[in-house]
Amino acid sequence: MDRRRLITLGGLAAGGALLPGCAAIATAGGRSGHSGHGDHVGHAGAGAGGAATGDPFTVALPVPPVLKPTAVLGGIELYDLSVRHTTTEILPGVSTPVLGYNGQFVGPTIRARYGRPALVRVRNELHHPTNVHLHGGYVPAASDGHPMDVVAPGGRRAYHYPNRQRGATLWYHDHSHHMEAEHVYRGLHGFYLIDDPAERDLRLPSGRFDVPILLRDAQLAEDGTLVFDPSPNMDRRTILANGKAQPVLAVAARRYRLRLLNASAHRIFELRLPGADLVQIGTDGGLLPAPVPRAELKLTPAERADVVVDFGRLPVGSRVVLQDTTGPVLAFDVVAEAADDSRLPNRLRALPALPPATTVRDVALSFNPGSTTFTINGQVFDAGRVDARIPLGSTEIWRITNRDTAFNIDHNFHMHLVQFRVLDRDGVPPEPGEAGLKDTVAVPPGSTVRVQATFTGYTGRYVYHCHFLEHSQIGMMAQFEVV
Ligand code: C2O
Ligand code: CU
Ligand code: CU
Repeated sequence: MDRRRLITLGGLAAGGALLPGCAAIATAGGRSGHSGHGDHVGHAGAGAGGAATGDPFTVALPVPPVLKPTAVLGGIELYDLSVRHTTTEILPGVSTPVLGYNGQFVGPTIRARYGRPALVRVRNELHHPTNVHLHGGYVPAASDGHPMDVVAPGGRRAYHYPNRQRGATLWYHDHSHHMEAEHVYRGLHGFYLIDDPAERDLRLPSGRFDVPILLRDAQLAEDGTLVFDPSPNMDRRTILANGKAQPVLAVAARRYRLRLLNASAHRIFELRLPGADLVQIGTDGGLLPAPVPRAELKLTPAERADVVVDFGRLPVGSRVVLQDTTGPVLAFDVVAEAADDSRLPNRLRALPALPPATTVRDVALSFNPGSTTFTINGQVFDAGRVDARIPLGSTEIWRITNRDTAFNIDHNFHMHLVQFRVLDRDGVPPEPGEAGLKDTVAVPPGSTVRVQATFTGYTGRYVYHCHFLEHSQIGMMAQFEVV
């Protein structure tokens, strides 16, 4: 992939080629991706973009519907997803063209079950390639949604998900190389939850008291269209919860489990819930050993946190508001008394043992101002190159360093196939909320994070990358092969 092509692609994307009516943004010639981050804390105000977002907390938070299996065949659940152009109301009364799984801006939630395989059949109704990656999934390479393994327009594809991993909040999204940032931005994102019978006795809040909340940012033009600008000028200041700006969720006075996902390509959320207690119970890959009270939850792109909030401690009629550094994101109105037979036990689920590691690898994340590319160990992604060969069954420590102190660029680090453990950040053990199973971890400028993973079960090629998608799509991605 030469630089000219990268720039062309960047320019195309910036021109809003995907959707008619998308405001074309003149950018710095495809110098896409580099942004003096830190601007994620820079937007003051209550989240209005170019378009007026209306009065806050008047629109109900939608909960993405759970997808029903088309069939169950020999113990395998069959799901059908079509990828298509559609419209949604991000702002009340304004129709916004977006992309959607089954025509939904936040795709339907797939609720899988531990030990019961799922076959997800995807039909591509777009005019360009797409694919589906199960983020956080422990799946065979052929079903991983590798960036080069795409479904042609009009094509179909079946992904096989064994669901042989702990209960967890996963998500699925497009991963077609060079288009992933725009595709995900335009709506190709949805939840994939694994229910685990081994966790049933914990009696955590379940059913309608278990609510997935997809948080992301957006730039809306005056006419309500979604502006995709991958350049440093991006101005995605409208924060959406399940696709709506500043919605409200009416809750009963009892415990809820909230599954928070940062599905933004390029924003770090720093969430607080003044007036109520945010208690973290899970990380990307499943439950923590014990609940962790959090004054603030920091989520970089693709990270998840499962929390329990006990609204039963608040009087009926009260309101608490989830806040980000950008302003209010989502209100919870306590509207009714309710019985509550759920629990928040002191012990949740023990983590798997950490086998001794046999290999240590170094991964340096850096922006190259000369070629305006984002690199791993100085190289841009090359699908023909295997960057790490890993013997099946082995355990490795990866030492990830963000070298972008000069530009002060945030990165994070995501590996396909595995749930890893964070060993330390700059030599200091992780905070308890980060000490569980993780597939994505923050790597702030100048820092080094050590993670440990065990590669079992499947051989083949998988990618690892920064999940700031404007970085990975122009190079900050590499490949390991389990052999
Ligand atoms: Cu969210 Cu390569 O993945
Ligand atoms: Cu992934
Ligand atoms: Cu990055």
